[in-house]
Amino acid sequence: MFPLKESQPPTGIHRTWWKESNIYQIYPSSFQSHSPNSPTGTIRGITSRLSYIQSLGTDTVWLCPILASPQIDMGYDISDYRDIHEGYGTMEDHDELIRELHARKMKYVMDLVVNHTSDQHEWFKKSRSSRGKGNEYRDWYIWRPAKYDKDGQRQPPNNWLSYFGGSAWQWDAMTQEYYLHLFAPSQPDLNWENPSVVSAVHSMIRFWLDRGVDGFRMDVINFISKEPGLPNAPVSDPTSPWQSPIALHSCGPRLHEFLQGIGTILKEYDAFSVGEMPGVGDEKEVMKSVGQEREELNMIFHFELVSIDGQTQDKFLPRNWTLQELKGIISKWQAMMLRNHGWNALYLENHDQPRSISRFASDAPEYRKFSAKMLATFLALQSGTPYIYQGQEIGQINVPRSWALDKYRDIETLNHWRDKVLVEYAEDKEFQDIMLREYRKKGRDNGRTPMQWDGKSRNAGFTGEETQPWMDVHPDYTEWNVENQINDPDSVFSYWKTVLALRKELKDIFVYGDFEMLDPEGEQSVAFIRSADERNKALVVMSFKDYETEWRVPEGATSFLQCPVKLKNYEDEPQSRQGGGAEGGGSSAMILRPFEALVYVSSGGNSD
Ligand code: NOJ
Repeated sequence: MFPLKESQPPTGIHRTWWKESNIYQIYPSSFQSHSPNSPTGTIRGITSRLSYIQSLGTDTVWLCPILASPQIDMGYDISDYRDIHEGYGTMEDHDELIRELHARKMKYVMDLVVNHTSDQHEWFKKSRSSRGKGNEYRDWYIWRPAKYDKDGQRQPPNNWLSYFGGSAWQWDAMTQEYYLHLFAPSQPDLNWENPSVVSAVHSMIRFWLDRGVDGFRMDVINFISKEPGLPNAPVSDPTSPWQSPIALHSCGPRLHEFLQGIGTILKEYDAFSVGEMPGVGDEKEVMKSVGQEREELNMIFHFELVSIDGQTQDKFLPRNWTLQELKGIISKWQAMMLRNHGWNALYLENHDQPRSISRFASDAPEYRKFSAKMLATFLALQSGTPYIYQGQEIGQINVPRSWALDKYRDIETLNHWRDKVLVEYAEDKEFQDIMLREYRKKGRDNGRTPMQWDGKSRNAGFTGEETQPWMDVHPDYTEWNVENQINDPDSVFSYWKTVLALRKELKDIFVYGDFEMLDPEGEQSVAFIRSADERNKALVVMSFKDYETEWRVPEGATSFLQCPVKLKNYEDEPQSRQGGGAEGGGSSAMILRPFEALVYVSSGGNSD
C-alpha cells in the first residue's frame, strides 16, 4: 500500500487531525473513582486511566459535563460555568487531567451546555428575583405572561411539550410569569436573543480554551435559536395538551449567526467542535452547520439512526425497523457529507442511548462477542470520525431484564413512568409492561452503569468494595471486564484496537476514501466499499443476523474475494460459494455466520 500524495485527497476533502482521530467518550459519573469512598467516578480517576484509553487507539477524550451542578440531569444542569462539580474533584484535578492528556499528545473535548443552565445558576436566581425594569438579568431567560382559558384558568403561553414530559413552561409564583424549559423545570432555557447572554457564553468559552481545552461537544446546540413569537406547535398527539415543538426551536432563524459567533472564537484557538443536533436531517440545513467553508461546526451528531426504533412523539413507543431503513440512513449521511465536503460524527452509543449490542445485534451469550466485533467494524470503517463510548470497547450490554425501576436513575425514564404511564395508562397493565420492556431496550440508564474494570472486586473496580455506587454495576462484570480482555488477543477490546489501528493505517481508504453501499435492500447483511482510488479499496461485509445467511456478491465486487482478508471476527476462514459464469466469477456468494464481519483490502499501490 503506497500512500496517496497529500495533494491528492481522493474525495477532495481537507486532511486534518480531527478527521483522523478516534474519540473516546467518558461519562464521568460512571467511569472510575480514585477514592474508595466515592459513589461516583472522579476526575482523578479518569486521569489514572489515560494509558488505558490511549492503548485502545483513541487519541481524543470527550467528557460529559463535569461542571458545578445539582445533578438533576447528571450535570446537564450547570450552576456555575467556571467551577468543577464537587463530587468529581477540583480545578487542580482538572488542570492535571489536561496536562496529562497533552503530555500523551491526546486532545480534550469538554461538554458545552448553553441552551439552558440549572435553576441554581446565579444568572437564573437573579433573573427570577424580580420582574422590575432594573433587573438586567430578567431577560437572560425566556419569560412570558400566563394565558387564561375560557374558564379563567391560568395556562402556559403555548402548547410546547418538554423533553422530560409535561408542559415546557414553569409557573413562577413570585414574579407571576412562566419561564421556558425544554428539558426539566430545573433547566431553564437561556435567551440567546439577549446580546449579554451571547457575550457571557463567549467569555466562558474563552475561559476554558485558555485553560487548555481543545474543543467542545455542544449540547442540543441547534435549539439555541427559537422561532420568534414562540407560536403553538402543530398537534401531533391529539391525546395530549402538549405537542412536540421541535420544528419551532430546532435551527431557528439566528442559529447560524450564533454558531458563527462561537466558530470565530474556536478558529482563533484552532479548537474542535461537534454539535449535538436532534431533529436535523435536511441537507441544506446540515451543510450550513458543517460545510467545510462555513466555519461553524466541524461535525454534528444526527439522530436518524438512533431514532429508528422509537416514535417521533415518544421515543419509548415501540417501532419495528428494517435493515433496509438502517442502510438508507447510513447511505444518506455518507453521501451527503462526501458530496458536500462535510464530515460525519459516527456513533452507535453514548450516555443517552442504550448499548448497541443489545439494540442492533444480539446480547445472547453465544453471540455477544461476535456482535460487538461486527458493530465495531460497521461503525469505525465508515467515512467520518468514530466515537467509542466507555464500555463499548469491552462489549457492555443493557441492564439485566430482572432490574426493577428502583434501580433506574434517569429523570427521562422515571418521569415518563410517573407522569405519563401511571397517569394516562393507570389501569392498562399490558401497556405498562410494554413500557417496562421498552425502558430496558432504550432507556438512558442502559448506557450509564459503571465501567467494568475487573471481575473480582465488588463494584468491578469502579469504586471501593464498601461503597454503594450511584448506580449498580451490571452483574455480568465478573466475566465481562477490562482485566479479562486487555491481554486476550481474541477479546472485544483487542478487536476494537485492531479496527481503530486499521483505520489509521489505511487512512486513504478508511478516513478519506469514498463510500458506496452495496445491496441497499438486503435484509440480512450490510456491505460497503471504501475506496481511495481504483486500486486501493476495501470491501466491508457484515451479517446482522443470528443465523447463517448467504450474501450474493454483486458483480463489481467479486474481485475482492481474491484479495487478502484484512480483518475478520471468526477465527477460521470465511466461507464462500462459487457459482458458474465467466472465470467462475459469474455468481459468487458468501456464507455469513451469525454476526460475521469481514474486511477485504485491495491495495494495488500508487495510482499515478
Ligand atoms: C442532551 C444530553 O446529551 C442529555 O443527556 C441531556 O439530558 C439533554 N441534552 C439536556 O441537556
